[in-house]
Amino acid sequence: MAGAGISTSAGIPDFRSPGSGLYDNLQKYNLPDPQAIFSIDFFKESPEPFFELARELFPGQFKPTPCHYFIKMLDDKGLLLRHYTQNIDTLERVSGLNGDKIVEAHGTFHTSHCLACGKEYCLDWMKNEVFKGGVPKCDVEGCEGVVKPDIVFFGEALPKRFFDCVKKDMMECDLLIIMGTSLVVQPFASLTSRVPDTTPRLYINREKSPPMDPFMDLLMGGGSDFNADKEGNYRDVFWEGSCDDGAQALATLLGWGEELKTTVKTEQARIDKETKDSSAAKKS
Ligand code: OAD
Ligand code: ZN
Repeated sequence: MAGAGISTSAGIPDFRSPGSGLYDNLQKYNLPDPQAIFSIDFFKESPEPFFELARELFPGQFKPTPCHYFIKMLDDKGLLLRHYTQNIDTLERVSGLNGDKIVEAHGTFHTSHCLACGKEYCLDWMKNEVFKGGVPKCDVEGCEGVVKPDIVFFGEALPKRFFDCVKKDMMECDLLIIMGTSLVVQPFASLTSRVPDTTPRLYINREKSPPMDPFMDLLMGGGSDFNADKEGNYRDVFWEGSCDDGAQALATLLGWGEELKTTVKTEQARIDKETKDSSAAKKS
């Protein structure tokens, strides 16, 4: 299970880190509250702030991190059952991890849909529109609907694939690794409680998840029950530090330390070269 913290070393801000998190840096949009930028009701009234932000954070401008390559390596070694991510930066795909192994719980920029007629648009179309500026509008004659990337906003349901996979995977999971998430957004955070009681759970993060608000717990039907400090804890481990360092430490313990370092170096250099070549091709 992963969140924004696995991508911060790629230069993408997370949401809730004080100071650097996205929600502390949205003043210029004059939002009623920071989360409004990802709220479907607000978007339907004022889509402009979201598209302005999308221009800054558009996927494709960033490189996967050592942590992403560690996840890919888990799969290469035949150990990854599934990677559940809340991220919409597509860096898991860029690292080469097969789409079958990924559950993009909060959707993806890969496809977009017109909110009025439902016409689907591809990533390149959306990218072009976003960089043109303004709000992307449907090209079906007479429609003029706003086209929204298929990322899950507050107030929208998670993709069907999330629920289908959870049903199958969670009972089979024999080690749950949680990385770079504050474990506060539902229903994602509550996945921690869906694995068997005998499944060890390792949480790699800069800080512990904030304690669950008992009122929200009642309302939402259970948050994350991860608690390494609980008396009688027999299976939860909290590892404090960066996701990249945690992933590297784990790889070293598995005997893949050097392999991971080499993969990161080669893959990142390959992406740099591709980016250079494609911008040179555009110029000529
Ligand atoms: P958050 O910003 O809530 O949490 C990120 C966590 O990662 C925090 O606990 C940070 O301390 C930690 N962190 C940041 N950088 C790190 C690093 N390099 N190494 C280790 N830990 C690091 O982000 P998420 O939990 O992903 O949803 O947020 C969940 C959802 O809230 C997002 O998917 C998004 C947001 O609103 C929607 O927009 C629907
Ligand atoms: Zn339309």
